[in-house]
This record gives sequence, C-alpha cells and structure tokens, in this order.
Amino acid sequence: MTSAQELVDDREGENIFRVHRSAFTDPAIFDQEMAEIFGRTWLYLCHESQIAKHGDYVATQIGTQPVFVIRGSDDDIRCFYDVCSHRGSRLTGRTSGSAKTLTCRYHGWCFNAEGACTLVRGGDEAYRPEDLDRMDTNLRPIEKFGSYKGFLFGCLDADAPPLDEFLGGAMPFIDLMTDQAPDGMEILRGESRYMMEANWKLQTENSTDGYHVATVHRNFATTVGYRETLAPEGDSGMAKTEASRILSLEKINSGGYDVGNGHMINWADRGNPEAGPSWPQREALLQRYPAGKVKWMLERGRTVTVFPNLLLNDVASSCIRVWRPISAELTEIETWCIAPKNEAPEARRARIRKYEDFFFPASLAVPDDVRAMEGAQIGSEALEDGWNDLALGHKTLVDGADDAAKELGVTPLNSNPGREVETPFFAFWREWVARLTP
Ligand code: FES
Ligand SMILES: [Fe+2]
Repeated sequence: MTSAQELVDDREGENIFRVHRSAFTDPAIFDQEMAEIFGRTWLYLCHESQIAKHGDYVATQIGTQPVFVIRGSDDDIRCFYDVCSHRGSRLTGRTSGSAKTLTCRYHGWCFNAEGACTLVRGGDEAYRPEDLDRMDTNLRPIEKFGSYKGFLFGCLDADAPPLDEFLGGAMPFIDLMTDQAPDGMEILRGESRYMMEANWKLQTENSTDGYHVATVHRNFATTVGYRETLAPEGDSGMAKTEASRILSLEKINSGGYDVGNGHMINWADRGNPEAGPSWPQREALLQRYPAGKVKWMLERGRTVTVFPNLLLNDVASSCIRVWRPISAELTEIETWCIAPKNEAPEARRARIRKYEDFFFPASLAVPDDVRAMEGAQIGSEALEDGWNDLALGHKTLVDGADDAAKELGVTPLNSNPGREVETPFFAFWREWVARLTP
C-alpha cells in the first residue's frame, strides 16, 4: 500500500512540494485518516451558545463515532459517546435539542444530563445487583473535552496535547473574531447541512485557497455588484457587499500564513471596511486593543483554517464551517452564522444578509465552490501519476513574519505577501503526513 509519505513529495531544499492525487481517492488512505487523524486529534464539536441551558444538547460525530455535548444541572458542559449503555442504541434523536432526561427509545433506560443512569426499567426485578455493577450503566465521557473562547472541541485520544497547545498559532487569529464581542458570541438560529461528492481535504485546501476566489467567485462579485446598481439606496452603508476585494485583487494587500500544527491563515484587506457589521465598534475596540490588532479585526478579511476540518471565516460576514468525511468521495458540510451577542439590529441584519449571499448552501458562492471541488475529485481519478504541484507563491515565500503579521505581533512559521498562493497548504499536508506516519 502507498504510504502518506510517498503521496507528498516535499523537498524543501529544492523548493518542490507536490501532492499525489490518489490522496483524494484512495479508500485505504481514507481508513488511515479516520484512525490516525479523526480518531486522535482535537475536533470542533459546537459553540457553547448552542447549549445555553441545563439539558440543551448538540449531537454530532467525531470521525465515525456519534457523540453529544450537553449542559448539566451544575452548568458544566460534558461530551459523551452517543450510545445507550444497555444495547447500543443512539440516545439523541435530533442534531440538537433540550432534554434534562434522555430516555432511550429502545427499552426505556434513562440518563440525566450529567451522564448518570437514573432508571433501568424493570431492573430491580430482573437484574442481580452484581450484573448492574459489572455493566457500568452510566454514559461514557469522551477522552478529552475542551473550550477555547466558547468553541468546544473533543478528542478521542487520552494522550493528545492540551487544546491550547494544539490550537497554538491559530489562537491570535481566532481572537480577532471573538474579541470583537464584549458580551461573547452566539450562533444564529438555523442549521445548514449539505453534501459534497468530493474528498474532505479538497474543502480543507479550498478554505485557505485565495487563488480560486477571483475565478470561482467572480459570479458572486458581478451579481452583487450589479444588484447594488439596481437598488443603490437599499444596498448602501453597512448593507453594501465587499465585492471589490474579489474583483480588484491588485489594489489590495493580502497574504497567507503557516501558523503551525496544520493550521492555515489567508487574509485580504477589505476594499470598503466601513461596510463591515463591526465597523461602528471601532472606537470602542481602539480603547481596548492596540491599533494594529483593531486594523486586523476590521480592515482585513480572514479565513482561519484549523486542522483538519474547521474554518472560521470573518470577512463580509462571519461563519463557522465544518466538513465531516463520510467516504473518500463524500463529505458532509455544515455552516453556521456566528455573531457578537447584543449587536445593533442593523449590524445583525447586514451580517445575516451577507451570510446568505456568500456562505449559505444556496448562496452565490457555495454552489460554485462545491462544483469546483467535485470537478477536482473527478479529475483526480485520471492518470496513474497525477500530481498537484503546489508551487504557487514559492517565489515570494518568506520565513517568519511579514509586515502585516508584525502589526499583529505574531510570528507565523512562514508568510506570503499575497493571497494567491499555495504555500500555506504546506502546513496542512506536513501535519497530514506526520499523523499518518507511524
Ligand atoms: S438499548 Fe437503550 S434501553 Fe436498551
Ligand atoms: Fe470559495
């Protein structure tokens, strides 16, 4: 069997970085990824605002294993394997809900929100006490569970490093989103879930791929640009879109970073930052944070791609996207709009409209991305020796921080002063190889 190492041709001294396309198609590689990446790394589960009250839960998956996150009567949040301790029925019936008691639909055992089994139906009559002791009827917590600024993560490897260590260089960029929200952030109502007939790693690459924006999203930019000429008064001020940064790349500053542990950053200055929903907070933010950080918050759109399958996007609107591998050729994607709690109604309205324009499954951007990635999946089946050569940006790659990173006071492993580059992908693929190599 081909090893992950053989699929990534990484010759740093010679400035060669290529990925063999069977990395996207080989089912044996997929099985390894499930065991060594999704079975062992920290993975995003949900946001704490989705489980605000005792009994609120979100049901999701870590790799192929069902889990759920629930708030207990003690206000603590826990994450359990979503399986009845009796004979293995999944306990939650929905992707989210509220239940102070979870009743198994198969034979009626009950569990409280702290995971304790509170009822074994008919148990006193039919079980010997030692049977119940041996069975351990309580729910099993997952091995590791952690929160960073309200983002909840779980991990099935008890020996994994702490969450903060894993997030590492991505944290200052996550803070750029959360620090705009003095009262914390909240996920807005609604769930968006769609399927993509393509490998999950194509979505990981796409999330930080500035190169496709001017081609794939020209459709978005020209459509909203035209819409604004039709209704200039209705699409003014904060409601205005930021199409200019897509159509006039040469006029803006942009870049990409490898921030370590497989995490990648892509950024671009906003053509009209005053159209951003948080722009009215500028003076207040300048009171609290250095000017360089506020510039990053309000004048630069950012995508933060956290290894292996999470994107925090803070551009015209703000979005969380997670993609879950189902097979080598099938991926389930979920997105949510996330916003500062208590933001002004006009800012909230603008944020939601712009989320619908770009991030919603039926938006002017997502279907185009999905088609592009599905095309890459099909094309990856061609040729025995097909390689993706990720050389774009080699010419401008620099070690450490560029000027923009210095403004934020961070030092990426490497920087590229331009977003139409592929060099940040090295971060992901190097981590991918390391995790799949025994
Ligand atoms: S499987 Fe849950 S009560 Fe039997
Ligand atoms: Fe895109």
